[in-house]
Amino acid sequence: MPSSHSVESNLSPLVPAYDSILELVPYQTGKPIEELTREYGVSDVVKLASNENPRGCSPHVTLAITEQLGQLARYPDGNGYYLKQALADFNDVSVEQITLGNGSDDLLDILARSFAGADDAIVYSQYAFIVYPMLAKIQGATGIEVPAHRFGHDLKAMSQAVQDNPNTKIVFIANPNNPTGTQLEPQELRAFMASIPSSVLVVLDEAYIEYSLRVIIGRC
Ligand SMILES: Cc1ncc(COP(=O)(O)O)c(C=O)c1O
Repeated sequence: MPSSHSVESNLSPLVPAYDSILELVPYQTGKPIEELTREYGVSDVVKLASNENPRGCSPHVTLAITEQLGQLARYPDGNGYYLKQALADFNDVSVEQITLGNGSDDLLDILARSFAGADDAIVYSQYAFIVYPMLAKIQGATGIEVPAHRFGHDLKAMSQAVQDNPNTKIVFIANPNNPTGTQLEPQELRAFMASIPSSVLVVLDEAYIEYSLRVIIGRC
C-alpha cells in the first residue's frame, strides 16, 4: 500500500485546455446596495451598475413564480415552450429564431463555445463588456481588442480588424455599452453589418436596451 504522500506525488497536475485560462481574473460583480450604504454612509442609492431593475420585480413575475412553487421538485420544460411562444409573439419573430438562456451571459457563452476555437479570433471594443475578453481566453481564441472612440465602439476600426484578421469568427458589440453607456446610431450599425463577411457572427448584445433613451422615447 503506497503512503498518501507517494500517491500525491504520482498525480500529474491538472492542466487547463488552454494557457489563456490561467490569465482569467475573477469577475467583479457590482456592489450590493447594503455594502455601498455601509462603506460610504449613503442612503437612497439607485443602483444602475448591474443589469437589474431598480423598480423591482414585476408583480406578474412574483405571481407566476409563486404559482409554480409546488412544482419545484420537477424539472421545468427545458425548451421553454410557452415562454418562447410569448417572446416570439411579443417580438414578432418565429419561435425558431429564439434561444433561451439563464441570463444573457449564458447565451454569450454558448455562442463563443459554438463558434470560436483555438485557431479563431474574437473581436470586441476596448471598454466593452468584460465578459467578451474572458470568453476569448476560455476558448483559447485570440482576443482582438479594438481601441475605443470616445469610450464607445469604433465600428470602422472594428470592421478593419475583421478584414485584417481573416480568422475572425465572432464580433461582440454591446449596445448600449456597459460600462461606458455609449450608444451606436442605427445607420452606423447598418454600414458595419454591410462590411462584414457572412462567415463572421456579429453578436449585438442589447442587455441594457431598456436603459436606452431611444427605446424609452419610442415607447412613450
Ligand atoms: C453588455 C452586457 N451583456 C450581458 C450581460 C449579462 O447579463 P445577464 O444578467 O442577462 O446574464 C451584462 C450584465 O451586466 C451586460 O452588461
